[in-house]
Amino acid sequence: MGARLHSMGSISSRESDPVHRAPGESSMTENRPSKPQSGRQNLDPHLERYAARTAGMTASEIRALFAVASRPEVVSLAGGMPNLAALPLDTLSAQVAEIIAEDGLVALQYGSAHGVPVLREQICEIMALEGIKAHPDDVVVTVGSQMGLDMVTRLFCDPGDVVIAEGPSYVGALGSFAAYQAQVVHVAMDENGLVPELLREALVQTEKAGRRVKFLYTIPNFHNPAGVTLAVERRAEILEICREHGVLVVEDNPYGMLGFDGQTYPALRSTDPENVVYLGSFSKTFASGLRVGWVLAPHAVREKLVLAAESATLCPPTFNQMIVSRYLATHDWKGQIKKFRENYRERRDAMLSALDQYLPAGCSWTKPDGGFYVWVTVPEGVDTKAMLPRAVTARVAYASGTGFYADGFGSRQMRLSYCYPTPERIREGVRRLAAVLESEMDLARTFGNVATRQIQGPQNPSPDTV
Ligand SMILES: Cc1ncc(COP(=O)(O)O)c(C=O)c1O
Repeated sequence: MGARLHSMGSISSRESDPVHRAPGESSMTENRPSKPQSGRQNLDPHLERYAARTAGMTASEIRALFAVASRPEVVSLAGGMPNLAALPLDTLSAQVAEIIAEDGLVALQYGSAHGVPVLREQICEIMALEGIKAHPDDVVVTVGSQMGLDMVTRLFCDPGDVVIAEGPSYVGALGSFAAYQAQVVHVAMDENGLVPELLREALVQTEKAGRRVKFLYTIPNFHNPAGVTLAVERRAEILEICREHGVLVVEDNPYGMLGFDGQTYPALRSTDPENVVYLGSFSKTFASGLRVGWVLAPHAVREKLVLAAESATLCPPTFNQMIVSRYLATHDWKGQIKKFRENYRERRDAMLSALDQYLPAGCSWTKPDGGFYVWVTVPEGVDTKAMLPRAVTARVAYASGTGFYADGFGSRQMRLSYCYPTPERIREGVRRLAAVLESEMDLARTFGNVATRQIQGPQNPSPDTV
């Protein structure tokens, strides 16, 4: 891959306003949802009533795409759905029946906001595989790690506070930050993950501008969407920089057990338990639909998290936690993860060899050694968001890069997911994508930058207007 992942998006490349705001986040009062433009009919009679924070809530580009991309004739390299085909459904259905028969009145009852105690102990055993020593009291079970992200942001961010995040970053995290009116400053990665010098520079510049950074949000392993992993040698330095600047680290690690060679990396939390909040999930290693994740936090933070969780959901679903717990206790879950890894590895191989074979010269991409995603950079003059309707017409879908930035960068990037389709579909999808790219590059050579031409195709109307 070579150079930085988003040479166009590094903090140092934004000369005029290095600590810039995300679109629509200029100030609290300016953030109130605006009246529909003249000529457009307002279908929502409540428009004037919404809280200012709703201005940051827009459907992600990826969500908007799902409806079209899920048609069977389209090869979707867009979504990040785990491939659950290898799950032992017969065993699971027997276990679920046993839970109801043996312990139904507990399973179907409210529980504690903190989570089922035995599951919290099992979660500590899982985290020990990444070098984390944790006490079950400091684990809070959540409705997926997405809820953990939301709660951590709720606890720490006032409107206008800054969150530092890799550029690109996970769409769901950007959604939570926007919902709490936090402003994101992206820091570039290279093939070894977040670049420590750029992190330091971003922190210095943000502080100089008089703005408060609340935390660094990072996905160190098998990054979504970039597909890269933070080099082990960089981890201590990143922790030290954050400590120096008094900034908390939020480590999001849903893919950590999905290294294709069975490798795991030492969690950031393992060496700095007092300054790292760790987010974990069973979505990629077991079953995403059960919506069971967790947060491991320093003791004082944990107490606040339990209160926040209580006010959000009262408690995570007891039944689902018991399903996860029984599965961990009675099934060879490590063997199951190995099966998942082999499945994803086969798909990753299909994706990389198809990219090598079909993609036109001038494109580059990351080479993930775990997880679900490849991050592709296309030649100058091609705009991946503008190209998407034409790709869907050619029956292939991807996630355009701009969705992974809070600030409009990423127009020359796209995320390709290999987790779900079969290897044959992946190859076919990349072949179709390559043909679209070729013709786009042809047009760009003939007429100039594609982004400046009028684009015909599906638009995403705001939910408030038609
Ligand atoms: C980096 C990252 N964090 C968090 C999540 C949310 O996971 P969960 O299903 O546990 O809410 C995802 C889901 O794709 C993810 O990729």
